[in-house]
Amino acid sequence: MPPLVYEALETDWKASFSEERQKESLHRLEEGFVILFPRLNFTLSEEEKEFLSPHVVGKSKNVCYNIANRQIGGTILKENAGSRLGRLMHRFADHTRHLLHNLLPKYQGCLKQGRTSFRPVEVAGRVTSWRKDDTRLHVDCFPSTPLQGKRIIRVFSNVNPEGCPRSWRVGEPFPDVVARFFPKLKAPIFGTPTLLHLLRVTKAKRSEYDHYMLQLHDQMKQDLEYQKNVQQSTLHFPAGGTWVVYTDQVSHAATAGQFQFEQTFYLPVSAMERPETSPLKILERMAGRDLVRGIATTRYVESPIAKFLYK
Ligand SMILES: [Fe+2]
Repeated sequence: MPPLVYEALETDWKASFSEERQKESLHRLEEGFVILFPRLNFTLSEEEKEFLSPHVVGKSKNVCYNIANRQIGGTILKENAGSRLGRLMHRFADHTRHLLHNLLPKYQGCLKQGRTSFRPVEVAGRVTSWRKDDTRLHVDCFPSTPLQGKRIIRVFSNVNPEGCPRSWRVGEPFPDVVARFFPKLKAPIFGTPTLLHLLRVTKAKRSEYDHYMLQLHDQMKQDLEYQKNVQQSTLHFPAGGTWVVYTDQVSHAATAGQFQFEQTFYLPVSAMERPETSPLKILERMAGRDLVRGIATTRYVESPIAKFLYK
């Protein structure tokens, strides 16, 4: 399987793109390609390079930064050092926003900037539970933050000072993942989303979409045969490079690498050029239901769950 990578040679975070490049990038991104800028470097000053150490996170796996309120978390650094790391992460957040603004003007005004992360810990060999093990193929979703169908776009930069790549495995296309796993997914238990919200386990009421995405994430990670045998490619993202990808759609596993910055953006499906390529619309076609508002739509007769629930 050829890796679905669309390469872009820009080296400037504020680069402008021709209309043709913007259209092509949008089309590829929504089709499930990774847009790779192998020479778009997030440069750190000599002083800032002191943050390139796993010690800055203590027991957590990453530093996180919220550009909305300028709060930093997940680091043991305090006072001046903590503020300087916060400013570094703020700069990365600004750069990624400029990049997507120029690359994807169709999304202008609709992209919401989420958390910024810095991952200074080596991915390979990290001990964790199977559910949190991101070295297994999965699609992204958040247990405590229901997205109600919204897309997750992420911008990553590998800042490894030794020149080591960040390595991913990339699995089969999202429609194939859904066709394989959907029949095994269980429908949500009545009342559970309300209960989870009342108990503050989730920040909002979990939609059916979120429920199915979480199950998909878990089923993929739990199935070791699938992890081993599904068609997949390995990608090595170079140090000094940046890549953009819909991580709720592209089946991915981070297998090796240390020192990465990451920025999350959210987008309503309605703002897409081709909403039919979104996980929401693909899952809704299988379920025969509106998975955000919970209304039956066109039945998909090949789905045993849909047939059982809505016969
Ligand atoms: Fe992920």
